[in-house]
Amino acid sequence: MPTIQWFPGHMSKARRQIQENLKYIDFVTILADARLPLSSQNPMLNKIVGDKSKLLVLNKADLADKQETAKWCAYYKKEGLKVLAINAKEQGVIKQINGAAKALMSAKFEHLHKKGIQSNMMRTMIIGIPNVGKSTLMNRLAGKKIASVGNKPGITKGQQWLKTNKDLEILDTPGILWPKFEDQFVGLKLALTGAIKDNILPMDEVTIFGLNYFKKHYPERLQEYFNGIDLSEEAPEIIMNMTQKLGFRDDYDRFYSFFIKAVRNGKLGPYTLDKVVDLNGNN
Ligand code: G4P
Repeated sequence: MPTIQWFPGHMSKARRQIQENLKYIDFVTILADARLPLSSQNPMLNKIVGDKSKLLVLNKADLADKQETAKWCAYYKKEGLKVLAINAKEQGVIKQINGAAKALMSAKFEHLHKKGIQSNMMRTMIIGIPNVGKSTLMNRLAGKKIASVGNKPGITKGQQWLKTNKDLEILDTPGILWPKFEDQFVGLKLALTGAIKDNILPMDEVTIFGLNYFKKHYPERLQEYFNGIDLSEEAPEIIMNMTQKLGFRDDYDRFYSFFIKAVRNGKLGPYTLDKVVDLNGNN
């Protein structure tokens, strides 16, 4: 397993950019991948945003295992966080985010209303690792096509706000933080879901990890998709058999791409790679 860079230069720039913007917003919207609620969050995030109110949004919930998503939502709620599971591609997300934002801000509004100030305006910035769906969500909330944010921290020239049709405004420059590969499994999970570029980890290792994961947790899906494939053997043999069955001859690279794409696109059904049970051993 190669050593994976932690991009310290990028991180300090991103951190500075986020911290400069904190004073303009009421709460931060932390966007994570519902298939990886932990691994897709930057571990320094809490330190960076300090005691600013947080809304944790688990995106791509359509691709995640619903039962696991429910467990993660319960876990974070218990931790005192406002949490929401969404599919940023859906229209209904505007109402969901707005409702959660209002609930988060209710104490502040009550305080303002008591002082005779009737404002219900809320401002937030979206923070997340690359590819987690920041642009998709911003487009959906703003109801228009904004440029893809890519994965470089933006330079904010004065604050520009995207207006939604509710009382919510979003800073047009999202905060981009990189995931940290604290152990090799975090890297493999990120690679399997497409959160990191394909050339960072070897495709064969990512495939074997994914195959073993599905074999353990969702074997019937593998058997259905790969036409009754025999799963009693070890991963290398299974891969050989699958490659033959697909008619790819000995083109294993083609099989790795095929398999990883199928997992990423949900062809093997919804799945969650981070489990609450691994966190505290009693769920
Ligand atoms: P980023 O700004 O955080 O880097 O992420 P971006 O919005 O570009 O989204 C990355 C990919 O994730 C896009 O797919 C986008 O369509 C997809 N995506 C975002 N939110 C959701 C969601 O809730 N569910 C599902 N299933 N997919 C989501 P892409 O293939 O890179 O682009 P495109 O072909 O869809 O445009």
